Amino acid sequence: MLNIVIFGPPGAGKGTQAELIANELKLIHISSGDLLRQELANGDLGQEIKKYQDAGELVPDSLVIKMVEKAIAQNLDKPGFIFDGYPRNLNQAVSLDTVLKTGRLELNAVLNLELDEQEAVNRIILRGQTSGRSDDNEETIKARFQTYQEKTLPLLDYYRRQNLLVNIDGRPTISEVTKQIMKILKK
Ligand code: AP5
Repeated sequence: MLNIVIFGPPGAGKGTQAELIANELKLIHISSGDLLRQELANGDLGQEIKKYQDAGELVPDSLVIKMVEKAIAQNLDKPGFIFDGYPRNLNQAVSLDTVLKTGRLELNAVLNLELDEQEAVNRIILRGQTSGRSDDNEETIKARFQTYQEKTLPLLDYYRRQNLLVNIDGRPTISEVTKQIMKILKK
C-alpha cells in the first residue's frame, strides 16, 4: 500500500501530477475539488458548493470529509491512494489520519509542489480559457490564494513534524516534475 498527499497552492500542478502518478502506480486518485465539481453538476448540494467555490473559500468540512471518506471506503481493496487538494485544514488532516488508521493504513508521504504565486496565477488564467471552471478568474484566484495562505499552508508544519513532508520544485515541465516525484517515491 502506498498513500500519498499531493499538496500545494492553486495551480501548482496537483491534479496533473496526481493523475499521472496514479496511472503509473495504479493508485486511486481522490481529488476533493473534482468530487465537489461532480456533486455540483449532478447532486442536490450544487448551489451550496458553487457559492463557496466561486468565493474561493473552503467548502464546509462536514460535506467534504463525508465525500472523501466515502471514496476511500469504496476503494480499500486497492493498492493505495493519492489525495489531491485534500486535506485543506487541520480538521481534515486529523480526520484523514483517523480514517486511514481505521482501515489499518498510513500516509507514506506528503509531496509539497512549490510554485510562486505569479506563475501559478498565469497557469490558472490560461486554463480558465478552456476549463469552464467558474473559479478560474482573477478575482476568485486571489481569494483562493488567500484561503490557501490562511487555512491550508499551516498544515505543512503538521506534516513536517511527522517527517512526511517532501518539497518538490513545481516549475519545470510536467514530465520533469513527474520524474522528480517518481524518484522520491521509489526511495
Ligand atoms: P481544487 O479543484 O482543489 O483547486 P485548487 O487547489 O485551487 O487547484 P487547481 O485545480 O487550480 O490547481 P492544481 O494544483 O490541481 O493544478 P493543475 O494540475 O490543475 O479546489 C477548487 C475549490 O473547491 C476550492 O477553492 C474550494 O472551494 C473547494 N475545495 C476543494 N477541495 C476542498 C477541500 N479539501 N476542502 C474544502 N473545500 C475544497 O494545473 C493547473 C494548470 O497548469 C493546468 O492547466 C495544467 O495543465 C498546467 N500545468 C500543470 N503543471 C504544469 C507544469 N509543470 N508546467 C506548465 N503548466 C502546468
